[in-house]
Amino acid sequence: MRGYVNRVFDRIEDAETRRAAYVHSYGVSQCCVLLALKRGLDPELAAVIGLLHDIYSYKTGLTALHSENGADMVRVVFKRDLRDLFSEDEQTIIKSAIYHHSDKGHVHDEYDELLKDSDVLFLLSFRTSYDAIRAQRLL
Ligand SMILES: [Fe+2]
Repeated sequence: MRGYVNRVFDRIEDAETRRAAYVHSYGVSQCCVLLALKRGLDPELAAVIGLLHDIYSYKTGLTALHSENGADMVRVVFKRDLRDLFSEDEQTIIKSAIYHHSDKGHVHDEYDELLKDSDVLFLLSFRTSYDAIRAQRLL
């Protein structure tokens, strides 16, 4: 799994973007693991969700609708590069979390919320201000 993610990131030409891909994706993944342990969820699945959540943006350089497109991209990746690694149920959970992660104003399933909270938690550790809706997730 990490080999696939690293290969995608290593192909990013711009050094700053490549660095951001690693820092953000592995950072969010680590936050996912910690929150999963706290919430009684599967930490390995949580780590995978964090690593894959923005892979579409980093692979294509596109940010518009990256959650929806990312879930679709991962659906295909599960049939090719990452085939036979995850059960159908696990694939559904991963795709759902990626699909919903930009919609931070609504509450979805537990792994969806785990990813949103981890994304916010990680970003807050690098920024001093954040919009109110997202910051409220940490209260
Ligand atoms: Fe994202």
